[in-house]
Amino acid sequence: MSKEMIKVNDLSVAFGKQPVFQNLNVTINQGEFLAVVGMNGAGKTTLIRTILGQLKPKHGTIITDSDLKIGYVPQFRNIDSDYPLSVSDFIGLNFTGLKWPWMSKTEKQRIQEVIAEVGLSKIANRPLGKASGGEKQKTYLAQALVDRPNLLILDESTASLDPNTKEELLKVVKKINQEQHLTVIFVSHDMELVTQYPDHYLWLQPDASTSGPINELAAQMKEGIVNV
Ligand SMILES: Nc1ncnc2c1ncn2[C@@H]1O[C@H](COP(=O)(O)OP(=O)(O)OP(=O)(O)O)[C@@H](O)[C@H]1O
Ligand SMILES: [Mg+2]
Repeated sequence: MSKEMIKVNDLSVAFGKQPVFQNLNVTINQGEFLAVVGMNGAGKTTLIRTILGQLKPKHGTIITDSDLKIGYVPQFRNIDSDYPLSVSDFIGLNFTGLKWPWMSKTEKQRIQEVIAEVGLSKIANRPLGKASGGEKQKTYLAQALVDRPNLLILDESTASLDPNTKEELLKVVKKINQEQHLTVIFVSHDMELVTQYPDHYLWLQPDASTSGPINELAAQMKEGIVNV
């Protein structure tokens, strides 16, 4: 049996008296590529923030593996046009201990490696503020990956990307998922991507969330049941 990375037990989260979702149960195993879908406001980002420990559950628990190391790309990030750090220095910020700019040779090599992996080599020295939206997204992904997490969380990270760039990014993620057993949580409204790359799904709904192998979701989509 695979190792359980995250076990969500009977979880309810609310803001004040307003519940977001209730009685959620889901297990995420090591190496799983989980799509999290649901309408706007269903609580996808809220669930992620609860897993990260930024929000307290109203009820229930989240049990995480003791070796869990998370790389996280949040849904929104403000990088304005005069942001001074270069793409590669920004990626390097994620090394634990914030040693920048005094990084070790190994760390510098790792930054170069991840830059090549996500396809940013041509603009590695450009200030991040001057990068395009898609280039910024690739940079955020590279930053989340640079310190070799075993769980990658992507919250709508492909939303503003053109179709080719979306595929490119997901292919990079899938490759690491398959070759290094990286566990992935992919929050998205893009059903084409969701049915192509992930192997499991969680469909967040107010009281009756469902989860299972991805082909179940694809079948429900064909029947027109899923509308997210
Ligand atoms: N800090 C907060 N205080 C009060 N309500 C909040 C807070 N954060 C989120 N909510 C509410 O909780 C609900 C779930 O929000 P959440 O951001 O998790 O949705 P989501 O599924 O990620 O939606 P989207 O697809 O639009 O990103 C929404 O109704 C939102 O307004
Ligand atoms: Mg969200």
